[in-house]
Amino acid sequence: MKIHLIAAARPNFMKIAPLYHALQKEKWAHTLIVHTGQHYDLNMSDVFFQDLRMPEPDIHLGIGGGTHAEQTGKVMIAYEKVLLENQPDLVIVVGDVNSTLACTLAASKISYPSIPPRNGPDDQSAAHNTDRPVIKRKTLNRPLVAHLEAGLRSFDRTMPEEINRIVTDSLADLLWTPSPDGDENLLREGVDKRKIVRVGNIMIDSLEMLRDHIENLHVHKDFSLDKNTYGLITLHRPSNVDNQKKLTDLCETLIRAAKIAPLVFPVHPRTKNNLSKFGLLKMLAGADGMILTEPINYIRFMSLVFDCRFVITDSGGIQEETTYLGIPCLTLRPNTERPVTVTQGTNKLCTGTNLIEYVGSICRGDQVKYSIPELWDGHTADRIVISIKKLINEAMD
Ligand code: UD1
Repeated sequence: MKIHLIAAARPNFMKIAPLYHALQKEKWAHTLIVHTGQHYDLNMSDVFFQDLRMPEPDIHLGIGGGTHAEQTGKVMIAYEKVLLENQPDLVIVVGDVNSTLACTLAASKISYPSIPPRNGPDDQSAAHNTDRPVIKRKTLNRPLVAHLEAGLRSFDRTMPEEINRIVTDSLADLLWTPSPDGDENLLREGVDKRKIVRVGNIMIDSLEMLRDHIENLHVHKDFSLDKNTYGLITLHRPSNVDNQKKLTDLCETLIRAAKIAPLVFPVHPRTKNNLSKFGLLKMLAGADGMILTEPINYIRFMSLVFDCRFVITDSGGIQEETTYLGIPCLTLRPNTERPVTVTQGTNKLCTGTNLIEYVGSICRGDQVKYSIPELWDGHTADRIVISIKKLINEAMD
């Protein structure tokens, strides 16, 4: 079975790595990593492949940045060519970035050319050509599409990722969900329940795979900080960083928070561009207790998470990692597509106004109650492999 694993942007890499490793153990699976190139800087992409022990991508589309339509269109055009040449049986997309949507659209609409008989109409040899798709060949002349991290909804359609999630889920043939709310959202949208398989949270697999490595690093020492005394910031959502007034207000709040506890802030390229454009970079970099750095690779970043007191973020994945680790997470967003991190985990949705109050409470030692959601256990990739095997068996019936 020829499988394409689609990688595109930083949060995708820790989602495909465990699956790549699990599929490598399966003789029936021929897995190719397709990198769209949505993220391209060394420290936004390559270092993650190294950390996560993945080889160089088999196919690189080299797309780069652009507007939403440009990025989506460029990925679709480039990936359509790859699909026609390579003819995978299964395309696995992860998360909710523009490339997830683009590859799903291209794969769902492709029609593989029929196989011309080499020696006339009676020739059966082409049907036995192992380079051709084997799954559902009689009824479907395209690959199946599976979405890993399906069913998440913020119910906020101003977020580009929400649009990507809705369209991807409505097209995908197989929907691997991380938590019960994912199943419920899909069922409410009318998805056939036979398409939905709850597999758990794949990012926890990456974290567990590299736990020993992460725990031995203690990166906070490089910043002359003590364990459990500092906060860690990530900020890159357009709704937080693209608007000058919003970003200015947030910077002022973060500067106040840094007076309560030192803050390490690896700055995303989008955020850095905007901080410079709005003339905020110097003020932030010079603030007491604020430590700005370049984006940090997976293992070093997770080391900072493991040893911090709290996280301030607008990322999706970090809300989940902190819930798993029992670390307080303050999410600078009005909503989350990962509600289980709030109802069960350590996550609190914050505005700029109440952030300082929460930071104060955490630093005073107020306890955060939490439990780890079901199936967030480091074995999600194994459950996905079982789900794929089931797909093969069904197709052969
Ligand atoms: C994208 C995803 C977002 C995800 C985030 C993680 C979409 C709609 N958004 O947002 O869901 O949370 O990735 O980082 O797909 N840039 C670089 N080097 C890079 C990557 C980006 O300089 O390696 C700069 C470019 O100027 C680019 C900008 O950052 O235009 C934004 O990158 P883009 O991939 O368009 O969106 P993100 O904000 O990273």
